[in-house]
Amino acid sequence: MSKLRILITGGTGYIGSHTAVELLNSGYEVFIIDNLSNSNAEVVDKIEKITGIRPSFSKTDLCNKTELKEYFKKTKNIDAVIHFAAFKAVGESVQKPMMYYSNNISGMINLLEEMAENKIQNIVYSSSCTVYGEADTLPVTEESPVKKAESPYGFTKQAGEQMLFDISKAGDLHSVILRYFNPAGAHDSSLIGELPVGIPNNLVPYITQTAIGEREILTVNGNDYDTPDGTNIRDYIHVVDLAKAHLAALDRVLDKKSNEMTEVFNLGTGKGNSVMEVIRSFEKVSGTKLNYKIGPRREGDVVSIYSDTKKANEVLGWKAERDINDMMLTSWNWQNAISLKK
Ligand code: WQD
Repeated sequence: MSKLRILITGGTGYIGSHTAVELLNSGYEVFIIDNLSNSNAEVVDKIEKITGIRPSFSKTDLCNKTELKEYFKKTKNIDAVIHFAAFKAVGESVQKPMMYYSNNISGMINLLEEMAENKIQNIVYSSSCTVYGEADTLPVTEESPVKKAESPYGFTKQAGEQMLFDISKAGDLHSVILRYFNPAGAHDSSLIGELPVGIPNNLVPYITQTAIGEREILTVNGNDYDTPDGTNIRDYIHVVDLAKAHLAALDRVLDKKSNEMTEVFNLGTGKGNSVMEVIRSFEKVSGTKLNYKIGPRREGDVVSIYSDTKKANEVLGWKAERDINDMMLTSWNWQNAISLKK
């Protein structure tokens, strides 16, 4: 039987590359497109090194309609798309809203138009817990209200979800929306991991770059929040756990197991950790003291959010298995591996 053919947009990125590894290891044929705005083509070599299979790769920008049309002319019979390609830094989106609207929303519209044109009826969409904004009750379930986005990034994710709900209702697009909580950690091989271009927006790469000496000091964005230690709480999930969830989501959408055209799943661990708890975990597993200071709050941050993962556990048959210490250890191993190469 011929292999199912899966297109991964943003497949040289952090979550995309880890998902490509899991798909290849599970017998799918993988096609990656990426504009390399926040990743590099070397990741394709690393994916091949880990799996022994080289995925197809094309430097293609979703925002360039001509380029995208060309790509789909050359690449036929795609069974499903996993759509990762987007900018994803909450703090940065507050400073550059138009960059986020243009890239994340126009890019997705172009993709959905080309999918319709090429009769591709299955999509797994990389969404985010940021759609919940500041939730009234915790943990958040998939039925928790999607509130006014606290950041332009969160708004672009809400817009992406709404497009899928509307298109699926109007036609024959089957979609699974995955609301990620906070991805962290790296592949056990230390060949792939989070590799932000420039100064990291996210907490964990900033921690590891500070610990290795590439950054002078970590600034904790506020410790006067209404939480046990005053710092923000997030549900950190290992990127390999997250990647494995995409296999289950693909099954769901390809086998049309659901009688709903669009389904939503929270992908988290169900456990919240504060910024200080993440720092302590890192210090414990790395054996290094982290240089940090307390700074002002960051605009766009929600105080606390963590997931109720019952639906993904029961319907997808998926559960996160790795804890914050493992995320810190694999992140630290990855940081040491990439710093050795510099
Ligand atoms: C976490 C906490 C910061 C940097 C992420 C992804 C987003 C989405 C949701 C998937 C906050 C604090 C950070 C620093 C700090 N996930 N922090 N100093 O904002 O929760 O969003 O999860 O789509 O894409 O980015 O993650 O790592 O930026 O922040 O104190 O130098 O760490 O203020 O409290 P965030 P983050």
